[in-house]
Amino acid sequence: MRRVQYDRYGGPAEMHFGEFDLPLLGRNHVRVAVRAAAINPFDWKLRQGAMKLFMNRSFPKGMGTDSAGVVEAVGNDVTTVRVGDEVFGTMDFKKSGAFAEQVTLDANLVAKKPPQLSFAEAACLPIPAMTAWAAVVDRARARPGSSIFVNGCAGAVGSSAVQLAITHGARVAGTSGPTSMASASAAGVQPIFAYSNKSAYLNGEKFDAVFDTLGTLGVGDGLSMLNPDGVFVDINPTAPRLIRGMVSRRYKLAFATMGIKHLSAIAELACKGALRPAVGVEARFEDALSTLTKAELGPRLSGKVVLLMKT
Ligand SMILES: NC(=O)c1ccc[n+]([C@@H]2O[C@H](COP(=O)([O-])OP(=O)(O)OC[C@H]3O[C@@H](n4cnc5c(N)ncnc54)[C@H](OP(=O)(O)O)[C@@H]3O)[C@@H](O)[C@H]2O)c1
Repeated sequence: MRRVQYDRYGGPAEMHFGEFDLPLLGRNHVRVAVRAAAINPFDWKLRQGAMKLFMNRSFPKGMGTDSAGVVEAVGNDVTTVRVGDEVFGTMDFKKSGAFAEQVTLDANLVAKKPPQLSFAEAACLPIPAMTAWAAVVDRARARPGSSIFVNGCAGAVGSSAVQLAITHGARVAGTSGPTSMASASAAGVQPIFAYSNKSAYLNGEKFDAVFDTLGTLGVGDGLSMLNPDGVFVDINPTAPRLIRGMVSRRYKLAFATMGIKHLSAIAELACKGALRPAVGVEARFEDALSTLTKAELGPRLSGKVVLLMKT
């Protein structure tokens, strides 16, 4: 089976299509014929070597974590999905390989696809929505009457965060680029500031939580926008920020919370229409290399970029 892989860390030129034999199916594993796989910034950061200290040394390595498709086979201990089910899911970044015709997923990271969503839409959910959940529900504790400021409220994580916060009863303000203001407003963000209008939001209202999806706000600025008991949530760690996150009460890092519990909660919200990802570009799997390169190097595309596999 074909997949997108690379033989050493580096830029987009390292990516190529390769033949790959999936390992034998483990007792807790699910084999999925991939119909759609969504591109996350993390995919090219991994290929660039951002997490190489945590990876094994073997190559080639596959790319991609988030996908949706149809179950082809299940291990003996799997009870949550059956052959023929339409599913979506993700994989541990160390085992990346979702930009492929088939994937083997841990049963703990697969859930039934909400019937209301296309394969492309469902593939967009896992990492962005699980990260937003960790930030907005677990860290910021979004609740009725609380207020949250989302820096980058129209990106994949940002728009999931807005929807989750509103579903949990919070009021959301935030920043976006000029082309995303209309969609952010339609999603319920009020007020929305341009990134460049920093003085307006730094000197305005105070919030119960500030969620910086982009890592551009600056910790001091983020903290200055908080109510006395508020929390600043960051998802773009650097070494100093990791340490700060461990010792500070008001500054917290959040990471995608991987597991069936959150994936199922996300699927349930998607079934109710409370969580819907915006697909921006659908490209053929055959065009994966050029599509990934464009997504990585820009210009900025609106909505998620999804690879569609042949049925
Ligand atoms: N900690 C974790 O577990 C975790 C998980 C997932 C993602 N992340 C990180 O979170 C960040 C956001 O991820 P995402 O999936 O939401 O990304 P995304 O969908 O590509 O969103 C990008 C956001 O960045 C804004 N942006 C501003 N200037 C930009 C530029 N020059 N090029 C591209 N975008 C620009 C966009 O704003 P406008 O649309 O308003 O212009 C948009 O809100 C990434 O750095 C990613 O690595 C961390």
